[in-house]
Parts: sequence; structure tokens; C-alpha cells
Amino acid sequence: MPVMGDDGITVTIANESDIVTARQMGRALSEQVGFQGSDLTIIATAISEIARNIVTYAQRGEIVLRPVTANSRRGVVVVARDDGPGIPDIARAMQDGYSTGKTLGLGLPGARRLMDEFEIQSEVGVGTIVTMRKWLRR
Ligand SMILES: Nc1ncnc2c1ncn2[C@@H]1O[C@H](COP(=O)(O)OP(=O)(O)O)[C@@H](O)[C@H]1O
Ligand SMILES: [Mg+2]
Repeated sequence: MPVMGDDGITVTIANESDIVTARQMGRALSEQVGFQGSDLTIIATAISEIARNIVTYAQRGEIVLRPVTANSRRGVVVVARDDGPGIPDIARAMQDGYSTGKTLGLGLPGARRLMDEFEIQSEVGVGTIVTMRKWLRR
């Protein structure tokens, strides 16, 4: 179950239905912030890709969704954290078509393109944190 607090909405990610929940919560929050139309799908898609990576590579983790304001601009921030195996070569993982699994290797680079800001921190044996932001058009 998602938890709503002052820090935003936290969704524990451990299975397929959690991915759907994170996607839906991200879409609903983005709509409240003022995003419309295809932007809602864009944000939801980026969230699903990052959530799917948690399930596939780290087994479990969490996604925190929050409204943000900076420079008088509103937006949403998505932080995905896990204590999984980490990524040994982040630059390589960010390339189109690189996958250690059986999928297309487009999740991370795709999410980076879909969102306005994308940061990834990862350490082998410690885990991975992905932070993504999208800003409302003025
Ligand atoms: N949370 C994560 N923990 C560990 N490794 C990850 C994580 N997310 C992504 N990776 C690594 O980065 C690679 C690229 O991820 P992605 O672009 O989503 O493509 P795909 O999931 O199709 O392999 C993955 O194959 C995996 O090796
Ligand atoms: Mg992926």
C-alpha cells in the first residue's frame, strides 16, 4: 500500500502490481501538479521502467513521488531506491540496448529522455538511486 506523508507518496516496489501502483500514483500526483495529456503518460512510463528495474535486478526497493517547486516552476520528482546489487558500469547501463537481462536495454536511457532531469547513483553491493524530475511548461 502506498504511504502518503509530508515527504510525498512512498510506494514499496517488490512485484508487478507494485509497478502498476507506482505508475498510477505518479500519474495521479502529476495530474494534481498540473500536467496534462501526453506528459502524464510520459511520466508514468518513466516510473514504470525504473520500478521494473527494481523488481528485476534488485528484487525490492521503493519509489517516492513528490511535487516540487524551484525557480517558481512546479514539477514532480521521482526517487527510486534499492539495496540491490548495484550497477558496475553506469555509463554502459545508460546506453541504448545494453542489458544484462533478456530485455531491450532501453529502460534507463528511455527514462532519461522522457524526463527533464535524470540522475543515477549506484554502487556495487550497496544499491541504486535514480532521481528524475519533470517540470511544468510555463
Ligand atoms: N536497480 C538496478 N539495480 C541493478 N542493476 C540495474 C538496475 N537498473 C538497471 N540495472 C542494470 O542496467 C541495465 C540496463 O537497464 P535498462 O536500461 O532498464 O535495460 P533492461 O532492463 O532492458 O536491461 C540492466 O540490464 C541492469 O544490468
Ligand atoms: Mg529495464
